[in-house]
Amino acid sequence: MNASAKIGIGSSLSRVDGVEKVTGRAKYAAEYNVSGLLHGMAVNSRITKGKILSIDEAAARAVPGVVDVISHLNRPKQAWLDRSWKDELSIPGEPFKALHDDTVLFAGQPVALVVAETFEAARFAASLIEVRYEEEAHNVDFEASLAEKFTPSYLKRRNNYHPPKNRGDAEAAFAAAPVKMHGEYHLATEHHNPMEMHASTVEWHGDGTITVYDKVQGSQGTQAYLASAFGLGKKNVRVVNAYVGGGFGSGLRPQWQVQLAVMGAIHLERSVRVVMTRQQMFTHAHRPECTYSISLGAEPNGKLTTMINDATTSTSRFESNMEDIVVWGMMGYDCPNASGEYAIAPRDTYTSADMRAPGAATGMTLFEIAMDEMAYAAGVDPLDFRLLNYSEVDAMNGTPYTSKALREAYQEGAARFGWAKRSPEPRSMKEGRELIGWGVATGMWDAQFSKTAARAVLTADGKLEVASASSDIGTGTYTVMVQVAADTLGLPPEQITAKLGDSDLPEAPVEGGSWGAASTGAAVQLACQSVAKKLLSAADKLEGTPFRGVNGIEGLEFADGAMIRRDNPDIRVSLTEVMAAAGLDRIEVEETAKPGVHDMVSMARKSRNTHSAIFCEVRVDEELNQVRVTRVVNAVAAGRIINPKTARSQILGGVVMGMGMALHEETFADRTLGRWMNHNYAEYHVPAHADVHDIDVIFVHEPDPEVSPLGVKGLGEIGIVGTAAAIANAIYHATGKRVRELPITIDKLL
Ligand code: MOS
Repeated sequence: MNASAKIGIGSSLSRVDGVEKVTGRAKYAAEYNVSGLLHGMAVNSRITKGKILSIDEAAARAVPGVVDVISHLNRPKQAWLDRSWKDELSIPGEPFKALHDDTVLFAGQPVALVVAETFEAARFAASLIEVRYEEEAHNVDFEASLAEKFTPSYLKRRNNYHPPKNRGDAEAAFAAAPVKMHGEYHLATEHHNPMEMHASTVEWHGDGTITVYDKVQGSQGTQAYLASAFGLGKKNVRVVNAYVGGGFGSGLRPQWQVQLAVMGAIHLERSVRVVMTRQQMFTHAHRPECTYSISLGAEPNGKLTTMINDATTSTSRFESNMEDIVVWGMMGYDCPNASGEYAIAPRDTYTSADMRAPGAATGMTLFEIAMDEMAYAAGVDPLDFRLLNYSEVDAMNGTPYTSKALREAYQEGAARFGWAKRSPEPRSMKEGRELIGWGVATGMWDAQFSKTAARAVLTADGKLEVASASSDIGTGTYTVMVQVAADTLGLPPEQITAKLGDSDLPEAPVEGGSWGAASTGAAVQLACQSVAKKLLSAADKLEGTPFRGVNGIEGLEFADGAMIRRDNPDIRVSLTEVMAAAGLDRIEVEETAKPGVHDMVSMARKSRNTHSAIFCEVRVDEELNQVRVTRVVNAVAAGRIINPKTARSQILGGVVMGMGMALHEETFADRTLGRWMNHNYAEYHVPAHADVHDIDVIFVHEPDPEVSPLGVKGLGEIGIVGTAAAIANAIYHATGKRVRELPITIDKLL
């Protein structure tokens, strides 16, 4: 049989959830209209730090429809009783606990919840709550916070945390380097802006159990968290996140709206929904601000001899959020001397958090601007400079990669872009009043695979359901599952249903870190292989036992709804016939894919990363300094691509977000008030359609059977990494002006 006839792995299947989404049938957390639902609206602190002295609720309670006002004074006793709880991605420190006591830790902290029969009544009444505070001095300014920066002992918060490993003598080599550069780089604070605001609908069943429809990237993490933090017990909490309207990391950890909604439900023994407003979305997760000092030294021909990295990122006073900022250049480039220092600086905001490619999107991007500067200092073409310093191995850890087709990405990207036609001098390309610039940068991210379970149920009508508690945060997980199942059991996609986003389903981690497709895909494959084995045993009941002597499922081909002998393709029997012969009305299995013993050895000895080469054209209006990103080619090496269509969409989204990082996104803190001032879409700018022109995505050939069972590396994050550097480098090439602070707003080009 011809395997390529299947709509399986490698085909551009349209999203299986696409119609549900565009017709509005797909339900998001705030769209479950359970009966008797109450609506909660948070009251946010107007001070940044201090104590709550009193809360005047009289006017709010007088509003028709208001049911109750909940604060630290009357919250359910069972909330926060268990001091040992952590959420799935807890970091060192003490996570924020809404309405725990009278302490205010950050501006916009929820200090009360007004619950009413309607959303409108709750929102109006919330505006009438008068809170008196005792204010304490605060600091939200990153520059000022640097005086208190500290280097945390490298607690392993996740298995992918890489403390910098120095090599050689970077300082001495820098002193001796014939060609050198030094720069201080900066990335502004950015806030996650997923389309769907954080929301929770808590359904109170009245029997001690609750169902929580939550906007979160992992159902079981939130289930475990609510069970412990509220003393509910896991079996009493079900969390559903079937559809997630974007996350970008803001939903990795449960946010305060779910704390409030559950408290409201417990307190009133009613179903309660809490939805954040867009402005409230600026009171929690955000990408840390970063300052990064980079010194590079090279031989006259451009061969790097040393790199000195020193970065600090922002965190809160109550938790230590750390990122991998300085390691990317140390891993990526061949350079005998390298050092990395990293610190975090606390300020009186909510804790900074993972945001699409946390660490790499910041560190690799800023490092790639420094690389461009060094290429110019050495008088070498920026692409040639990267190829000259190419490292075949992970240069920081001294380990080989399971695969690294970055060279091919540079070559194919350059060819598609037409890089060879670039004129090297800044300001040398012009059309009308537009200066034209071409820039290049490298991207890098982790390729991870996490333990994940999946269930497969094949019924006598030939329909298959695959299910896992994993999530689809918009990345295409549903579609990937259907394709892997179609591929493994040879069924048409229309006969396959994928279920996700429910804590009742087989165990899976939060969706993040770009491990979803590799992990959930592997689990689905394993479960479907297990179904295949059961089918092979069932085939023994077929008249004439045509499959006798087949040595395991490797001896079978599954296609067109049938199982086929590889050694005799004329023997083919439909799966439904096999099941009927054995009297089976269903085959149900559950399997867990996890890094095995063999893989663990390889994990310790090999590095697993995705890579990309980004080429970019900008046009800068010479009079207005307005920058347009007119052309981007992003060439990605990410192992096996399950679905070129959804994969391309991931890269497009990453590139657009990289454009935001390069040109627009920046949250400004008012130092006196301690608040984020531009907490809305009008003043926090993200790229709009008119900002987005040609984006071309290339996936280079990178077979890698070792990185994960399917050879998949993941794509959710690599698209943003380095993109802003390619834009910044193109702006330098266009204008001759080097801007080391992102975003590059018009004022910086004056
Ligand atoms: Mo991603 S920042 O791991 O959701």
